[in-house]
Amino acid sequence: MKNIIISSEKDYFKKYKKSVTEPEEFWETIASQFDWKKKWSKTLEWDFNTPSVKWFLNGKLNITENCLDRHLKDFGNKTAILWEPNNPGETAKHISYKELHREVCKFANVLKNNNIKKGDRVCLYMPMIPQLAIAMLACARIGAIHSVVFAGFSSKAIEGRINDALCKMLITTNEMFRGAKTIGLKAICDEALKNCPTVKKVIVFNRTQTPVAMNPKRDVFWSEEIENASSDCPAEIMDSEDPLFILYTSGSTGTPKGMVHSTGGYMVGSTYTFLNVFQYRTNDIYWCTADIGWITGHSYIIYGPLCAGATTVLFEGVPSYPDYGRFWQLIEKHKVNQFYTAPTAIRALEKQPISFVEKYDLSSIKVLGTVGEPINNEAWQWYHKYIGKEKTPIVDTWWQTETGAIMISSLAGITPEKPTFATLPLPGVQPVLLDDNKKEIVGNPAEGRLAIAFPWPSMARTIWNNHKRFKEVYFSTFEGYYFTGDGALRDEKGNYRITGRVDDIVIVSGHNLGTAPIENTIDEHPKVVECAVIGFPHEIKGNALYAFATLYHQEDASEQLKIEINNLIAKEIGVIYKLDKIQFVNGLPKTRSGKIMRRILRKIASGETTDLGDTSTLLNPQIVEEIIKNKI
Ligand code: PRX
Repeated sequence: MKNIIISSEKDYFKKYKKSVTEPEEFWETIASQFDWKKKWSKTLEWDFNTPSVKWFLNGKLNITENCLDRHLKDFGNKTAILWEPNNPGETAKHISYKELHREVCKFANVLKNNNIKKGDRVCLYMPMIPQLAIAMLACARIGAIHSVVFAGFSSKAIEGRINDALCKMLITTNEMFRGAKTIGLKAICDEALKNCPTVKKVIVFNRTQTPVAMNPKRDVFWSEEIENASSDCPAEIMDSEDPLFILYTSGSTGTPKGMVHSTGGYMVGSTYTFLNVFQYRTNDIYWCTADIGWITGHSYIIYGPLCAGATTVLFEGVPSYPDYGRFWQLIEKHKVNQFYTAPTAIRALEKQPISFVEKYDLSSIKVLGTVGEPINNEAWQWYHKYIGKEKTPIVDTWWQTETGAIMISSLAGITPEKPTFATLPLPGVQPVLLDDNKKEIVGNPAEGRLAIAFPWPSMARTIWNNHKRFKEVYFSTFEGYYFTGDGALRDEKGNYRITGRVDDIVIVSGHNLGTAPIENTIDEHPKVVECAVIGFPHEIKGNALYAFATLYHQEDASEQLKIEINNLIAKEIGVIYKLDKIQFVNGLPKTRSGKIMRRILRKIASGETTDLGDTSTLLNPQIVEEIIKNKI
């Protein structure tokens, strides 16, 4: 894959230019570095109005041959996955490419034996263990579409996602470890499956010794199924545009959106960006701390690194267990060269005594990365000083579930970084800033809404079962562009700084949460009339959630009711959606047409009450004073 690597700043500018002037030729050179069973006949076909985007048309491949088979000849014994368990007393596992290939083929046969075929959807609800990677790759091996659901979501959330994609199978574990806690995943699945008629089989991997209830008509154990499975499983021939996976992300309204990613374009995009942003070299040990349940885990723990033949660390635990030195201890233990984490983790670790960091030798680190939300200057400086020892490049990578791969970022040690700026677009990415009149803002510096003017291979192709919504959310606000939902500014040199969401999505601890489903859940509480949920700045989480709610009977306002509301949220959508603050109010500020003015509530919650703008047009201006007075 040598031809793929950008080797200098000059080379970056040269390649970027080529990627804009001759995008098809540019991507062809990169795509031809992969193993295709049949070369594509046309590189790109697109229009953002339908919208329809196709890359490497009629190309045939299987991504697992690129992740696994291709590496066997030259470095079959190299560690593909370096698994570090939750419990420091449990031994780490080094799984070679050869072993991973074997396990994937065996489990692919288990899927086949259980009636899973190309195009079927399989839901994975699992902790960060090698079996999750194996299950994903096994699906890809036979052309089944995986839908990984983050193992922190509630049974209701699993249910909704399974029913949206009509999954035929669910794969889970009896329990999972998370720090000092043990969580019964299978029991959560059983609750969900009461309402999921399409799921015919459940495969259960025993992560702990605890026995688990099994439904004999439906549930089987991983260990028993794998026992006699053959390790020979030819890869299914997939079209470039065949879906590889569905991954749900929050919408600003309604239900989560099942983003559908393609096989060929996604492979090319995730691998190309992995190699260039992190400047991975053959023997490096690379660690991304994200959960595989998010896109970062899909693209930068599994597909990108494995296609590139890297050693990728898979960590089951949390940064605070057994103490706040865990990340640093693991960097020393495994001599990690590239370390990729989230600003929220950095902020949490920054608050701990520095002795947790100083205890360990971090000299192996060559590259640091961040993802998921804007990084504040203080966190950036701490990361730079204490982890990077003031010399390691930091890549601040901006991208989205929808984009599939990193879009704007510096390239480690190659292009300059700038604290709190994601900096420059990767080759092939054409960002623009648009103003309120939907016009492109030319010249620098500039501030506006961030959109992308030209397709890139790893972009999502649709929302599962809802192409209309795909068009509405991403291609209708600014016709002819992909709209990101983010605001951004651009400095004199063209560096981008992402300022945050401009819609009703709040990024809490790096998790992209839509406020609408939370509001709907709170409204279901029999004592609540209506509510508005907004984000407000939070020292560690970046943002936290604040709800303003009106009640049928004001005397019901109590701390107990707040607990009930949060429990309801945890049950209906998941613990990560819990509210930090709940304020019971006599009314919500509304326009005359009845629309809740979340803008005003956002300002109140952030303590910016001196400039609330014109409130006289509100239906109930007096309510604003009252809300400010009782602010928590
Ligand atoms: O607002 C941006 C923020 O996270 C959103 C995408 O969230 P999600 O689809 O969950 O994917 C997260 C992992 C790629 C974006 O619209 N975001 C992501 N990375 C950054 C960021 N904001 C600022 N700087 C970043 N580096």
